[in-house]
Amino acid sequence: MVPVTASGLGPNIRVVSVVGARPQFVKLAPVAEAFARAGVDHRIIHSGQHYDPAMSGAFFADLAIAAPDVNLGVGSGPHGRQTGVMLAALEDVLERERPDWVLVYGDTNTTLAAALAAVKIHLPVAHLEAGLRSFNRRMPEEHNRVLTDHASDLLLAPTEAAMGHLRREGLAQASRLVGDVMTDVCHRVADAVRPGWRDQSAEGEGPGRFVLATIHRPDNTDAPDRLDGIVQALAELPRPVRLAAHPRLRAKAAEFGIELRRGAIEPVEPLNYPAMVAAVLDSAAVVTDSGGLQKEAYLLGRPCTTVRPETEWVETLAGGWNLLADRPGDIAAAVTRPRPVGPRSQPYGDGHAADKAVAAILAG
Ligand code: UD1
Repeated sequence: MVPVTASGLGPNIRVVSVVGARPQFVKLAPVAEAFARAGVDHRIIHSGQHYDPAMSGAFFADLAIAAPDVNLGVGSGPHGRQTGVMLAALEDVLERERPDWVLVYGDTNTTLAAALAAVKIHLPVAHLEAGLRSFNRRMPEEHNRVLTDHASDLLLAPTEAAMGHLRREGLAQASRLVGDVMTDVCHRVADAVRPGWRDQSAEGEGPGRFVLATIHRPDNTDAPDRLDGIVQALAELPRPVRLAAHPRLRAKAAEFGIELRRGAIEPVEPLNYPAMVAAVLDSAAVVTDSGGLQKEAYLLGRPCTTVRPETEWVETLAGGWNLLADRPGDIAAAVTRPRPVGPRSQPYGDGHAADKAVAAILAG
């Protein structure tokens, strides 16, 4: 039973969401709305992991998210130090707030720091986007998500595959299938920026005929030969390539003397969320190493090429909508493959995952 306030207006429960990086702001948007609908006292702590206006503020503004109640301003740094500074700062804030639940999102350093800070002071933790696995232990995100899942009291899983991983790790009892909250927001924003997209996306490629690209993972950016190979493969594509450049990509390219503006590539600043959704819909195809963008391409009906050896979002691979091309030499053939014709199923839920997540927290 959910306790009810004296006024009878809503559940007498306080939840603190801890976010810090770009994809978490996107997930927070529908969740904050769902908390408001349920009358939950919901506060937002921003770790400050992302701080550039284009990486942070723009997302709060465009997705109409209330300003964070607290911003820890932690900023960038080596992973261990960044996580440790957040852990210490979060302990103080969470001790002051002592909410009924701490809600953490996804798999960033902010996620792990918040989960650890909460369990150390005996606050219940709910993990949204639980159960994803790449089984690639080189990825910082893989450690973050495994450790967070095993520290959490309530695991809110986006897919059946994620539920399977949690079951195999002995976490079934605490796991709930709620769907993917990014799907909620992706469809809503697509309806706003390109009304009628649902009919158009059945017809084929978008009007732009360009390839939309993002590359930001350390495994792709941090070794000069590999980064140069990926950039050169993009530069040689037979269509214009709009490359939305994450700060790390720009920094590493500059450090290694790799010119991003070459051949087919047109580098642009990181896109805010509505601009990214519009760009996917306008594109002919997507090339990325981002988890969110793979899924957005799938949801919006654009073929995706993923520059990684594996993906957590395995459902996108069905029917050839997403293709893994880890070797730079494989990128061109993947991007120019015939457009998939098969239908796309709905493995990510019905667009109401955030309400289900909130209901699971209230019932938890
Ligand atoms: C983080 C997440 C990753 C997610 C990505 C989305 C971890 C381990 N990784 O990676 O899962 O896909 O966010 O973008 O948490 N920088 C800026 N301005 C900013 C933020 C970062 O210039 O606002 C630069 C800094 O040089 C920084 C680098 O980007 O060192 C990397 O930022 P960081 O937050 O460490 O990780 P991301 O690569 O963004």
